[in-house]
Amino acid sequence: MSAQPVSTQVVLTDSATNKSVNLPVLRGSVGPAAIDIGKLQKETGMFTYDPGFMSTASCKSAITYIDGDAGVLLYRGYPIEQLAKQSTFLETSYLLVNGELPNAQQFSDFEHLVTHHSMMHEGLKTFLHGFHYDAHPMAMLCGTIGSLAAFYHDNLDIEDADQRKMAAVRLIAKIPTIAAACYRYTIGWPIRYPRNNLEYCTRFLHMMFEVPSEPLHLPAVAAKALDLLFILHADHEQNASTSTVRMVGSTGANPYACVAAGIAALWGPAHGGANEAVLKMLDEIGSADQVGKAVERAKDKNSGFRLMGFGHRVYKNFDPRATIIREMCYQVLNDLGVHDPLLEVALKLEEAALKDPYFIERKLYPNVDFYSGLIYKALKIPKEMFTVMFAIARTSGWVAHWLEQHLTADTKIGRPRQIYTGPITREYTPISKR
Ligand code: CMC
Repeated sequence: MSAQPVSTQVVLTDSATNKSVNLPVLRGSVGPAAIDIGKLQKETGMFTYDPGFMSTASCKSAITYIDGDAGVLLYRGYPIEQLAKQSTFLETSYLLVNGELPNAQQFSDFEHLVTHHSMMHEGLKTFLHGFHYDAHPMAMLCGTIGSLAAFYHDNLDIEDADQRKMAAVRLIAKIPTIAAACYRYTIGWPIRYPRNNLEYCTRFLHMMFEVPSEPLHLPAVAAKALDLLFILHADHEQNASTSTVRMVGSTGANPYACVAAGIAALWGPAHGGANEAVLKMLDEIGSADQVGKAVERAKDKNSGFRLMGFGHRVYKNFDPRATIIREMCYQVLNDLGVHDPLLEVALKLEEAALKDPYFIERKLYPNVDFYSGLIYKALKIPKEMFTVMFAIARTSGWVAHWLEQHLTADTKIGRPRQIYTGPITREYTPISKR
């Protein structure tokens, strides 16, 4: 369903010039209405100003819906709680990309396609060897995924819907292989090829941890937990990295370049980098008796310290993903028999912050990243790889948005305006006279 103009109009009047403009109000299938300001500049000569897109919808989309006040997250209409309980990551990826849940045949075809495109080009090994041994895996992932544009450039016609779909499948299929290869390069292990008899998450864990000299025995909870985390991270409407993918996509760029740009945006600690930052923070806090001090520091604006894994631009009640992850965290630690003292620190921190007026007034709650790092740690995934995990999962969302953007009639090149605050025209003076 596309957003329809409703009868309501907003009239804006500039009191200085007395110029008015009638602006249509658009309404989607659910959620707040939006004032369509597309003709504002043409009719009044004015722009709008909204740093950080606090009040601006950048596109129409039918993929994901969030109600931040009610803690609701829907993928293609399905509540995240139902998908977390009943779906798998690959099925959820199909849903995001195609708009509907697959029947058994459609799922089997999709799984076959993803499985049989999971190898990476041998040339990429040479590419990886160009990185310094201690390169951050997010830097390697970003560069390597971007380099896929060089492998699929001239032979990819992005005007062709089938070829666009294949690019989406290739990205979903190859990113775990490339991610695991980046990790193994940093620890000096030989790269493992993807094994087609394994399902998506188990295959990835094998590529991460299997050594040539002995078989890998994975506890059942490992792939289950990873699959759940991937479902929860798969999409989140117009977050910074997805908006970046769309912005780059709006120029007609190659999809691998678009996703590389999304990976770069994801890396920042305010976004996907938060899961790595949470573990570093919990490590630094060290013990439950230090939690009080950490909370005081987080409230002090001069400290430059925030509680990582807390707060969200959209969720102002609770993050439904955090609730699900918290439960899984207990299950994983329990099943694996792991006693992680950082869990106690995390629980105390959550308890202290949720009681504190600073956090209550600002509606700051644990977000998806607060507990995910503890699960990854229990699965023996090093913290430098946490944001890479997020990137693997979010690739499904990124490609779904890239595909949708190419099917949307009013997609235009993204080109925001600005309020210029620099010097006005002045005369050039030769260097000898300055
Ligand atoms: N710790 C302490 N204070 C905070 C925090 C925090 N984690 N988050 C926000 N605040 C305060 C902030 O100082 C501001 O206070 P005041 O109104 O007095 O100036 C107020 O809360 C609003 O914060 P904001 O930065 O204007 O809010 P935002 O919507 O621009 O930022 C956020 C959202 C997620 C970037 C921010 O809450 C944050 O930096 N959190 C920590 C990083 C994090 O966990 N990021 C992961 C987000 S979820 C996964 C993802 O999207 O990738």
